Amino acid sequence: MALRAARKLVLFLWLVRVVVGQDGWSVTYTTQSVCALKGSTVDLSCSYTCPKDHIAKKLFWFNKWTINEPEDLIEDRTYAERVKYIPFKDNSGHTLKITDLNENDSATYWFRFWTNKTGWKYTGKQGVHLSVTELQVEAIHAPVTEGQTFTLTCKSTCNVTGKPTYVWYKNGQHLTNPKTQTNYLHLDRVTSEDSGRYSCAVKGHEDIRSTEENLTVRFRPKNTSVSVSTFEIVKGSSVTLTCSSDANPPVDKYTWYNKNVTLPKASGQSYSITNITSEDSGEYYCEVQNEIGSENSTAVMVIVAVKSSISGNQPSFVTTVAGVTVFVLVLILCFSGFMWFRMKCSKPTPSKTNKADSGQVDPNSIYANVLHKDNTPTVAQTTATNSEQWDSVYANISKEDLTTCAKAAADALT
Ligand SMILES: *[C@@H]1O[C@H](CO)[C@@H](O)[C@H](O)[C@H]1NC(C)=O
Ligand SMILES: *[C@@H]1O[C@H](CO)[C@@H](O)[C@H](O)[C@H]1NC(C)=O
Ligand SMILES: *[C@@H]1O[C@H](CO)[C@@H](O)[C@H](O)[C@H]1NC(C)=O
Ligand SMILES: *[C@@H]1O[C@H](CO)[C@@H](O)[C@H](O)[C@H]1NC(C)=O
Ligand SMILES: *[C@@H]1O[C@H](CO)[C@@H](O)[C@H](O)[C@H]1NC(C)=O
Ligand SMILES: *[C@@H]1O[C@H](CO)[C@@H](O)[C@H](O)[C@H]1NC(C)=O
Ligand SMILES: *[C@@H]1O[C@H](CO)[C@@H](O)[C@H](O)[C@H]1NC(C)=O
Ligand SMILES: *[C@@H]1O[C@H](CO)[C@@H](O)[C@H](O)[C@H]1NC(C)=O
Repeated sequence: MALRAARKLVLFLWLVRVVVGQDGWSVTYTTQSVCALKGSTVDLSCSYTCPKDHIAKKLFWFNKWTINEPEDLIEDRTYAERVKYIPFKDNSGHTLKITDLNENDSATYWFRFWTNKTGWKYTGKQGVHLSVTELQVEAIHAPVTEGQTFTLTCKSTCNVTGKPTYVWYKNGQHLTNPKTQTNYLHLDRVTSEDSGRYSCAVKGHEDIRSTEENLTVRFRPKNTSVSVSTFEIVKGSSVTLTCSSDANPPVDKYTWYNKNVTLPKASGQSYSITNITSEDSGEYYCEVQNEIGSENSTAVMVIVAVKSSISGNQPSFVTTVAGVTVFVLVLILCFSGFMWFRMKCSKPTPSKTNKADSGQVDPNSIYANVLHKDNTPTVAQTTATNSEQWDSVYANISKEDLTTCAKAAADALT
């Protein structure tokens, strides 16, 4: 019985083949549906047969069934230059190539051919369904907090044909070692560094990128530091301490501490101490907090200088040199003023001058003249005109005169 049934089946199959063979008409599409990326190029193919006494002549593709003869795709203006017909070399099949796909190309495409016998044509009824899709990165959960696991998916409206491999980009840069699974990108224990713009593409079509998806990782404050407004902290001055930190979401609470004082001193990003006193000296730090966590900054030392910053410090080299220079200049002025005075007094009897006036001159008046007279002769003039008198005049300046003069110079300095 079984054998008989099997024979019948074989006979039946043979008959079917014979019928098809006799009929001879066929169009077989290589795929039923294709999912392609917008902007890419697709090839839709089929093989066809016709009876031996026919020759397939006019071969074309169309995508709109009409009562009349459908429009050949090559003549469709919306496809313009984008379609190309490529017959198989052995004329057993035909390929429709569409370049620069767009959403409007999503449709079913049929192949039809006419033969050399007038009125004979054949159409593959099934057709190929083409879907054109764009890629889109989608976050599985958002927002994400540091330490969590995060998954992104490269979404498309249809499953891209050809078991594609997905490639991922962060801020436009190719991610070299991502943890992926088909169209998913997994990020384990995210940190703030994982924040960025993510996009994806299909390998082989890297130029067709998805839109970007922002990943913003929320993290507790980091890199918290205190900056001080001035380096010269002097009693009575004002100092502002500013706390800065990296945090997402931004810091919403600041607390200031002075290490010597247990209670929080102030809140707010900046802490100002006006009319500072030495009691305000100490180590200051801030504690920052957002909804994820908190962090303390390292402490900064605030030391209040007791004296004013200039007199409290050692005089610098420049100040010293300047002071000495002024002192010497004043001394010289004293000498020259004194000489001028002596010369004026001794002009009528130059021979007696030295002895007669010695000791009688009030040093204070000399000093007053020197300091207050604008047209005091300079050292050069004095020396030039009275060079022969210089030694004697010099010799006659008393110790008292010199000290007075020096004192005056010193006073002028302070
Ligand atoms: C797609 O079709 C719509 C409606 O006909 C048209 O507005 C749009 O410009 C077409 N897009 C392209 C890329 O041809
Ligand atoms: C069509 O072509 C075939 C094969 O060359 C030929 O045998 C047949 O006569 C042709 N038919 C017509 C109507 O030209
Ligand atoms: C893509 O394929 C997966 C499984 O292979 C299926 O679950 C999903 O529905 C498909 N998506 C579309 C848009 O066809
Ligand atoms: C993503 O972030 C960029 C800047 O980093 C911004 O310009 C853009 O608007 C953001 N996009 C979205 C969808 O949030
Ligand atoms: C903290 O500072 C370091 C070094 O300046 C920097 O590399 C890092 O990105 C910063 N962290 C954040 C969260 O900004
Ligand atoms: C600064 O403080 C001192 C004493 O602490 C006080 O005498 C002085 O008036 C204060 N100055 C100002 C401008 O508040
Ligand atoms: C703060 O404490 C340190 C040591 O604990 C002490 O040397 C310093 O004088 C204190 N400063 C103030 C302003 O109390
Ligand atoms: C910061 O300092 C304060 C006061 O010392 C302390 O209570 C708090 O726990 C510290 N916070 C962190 C995150 O270390």
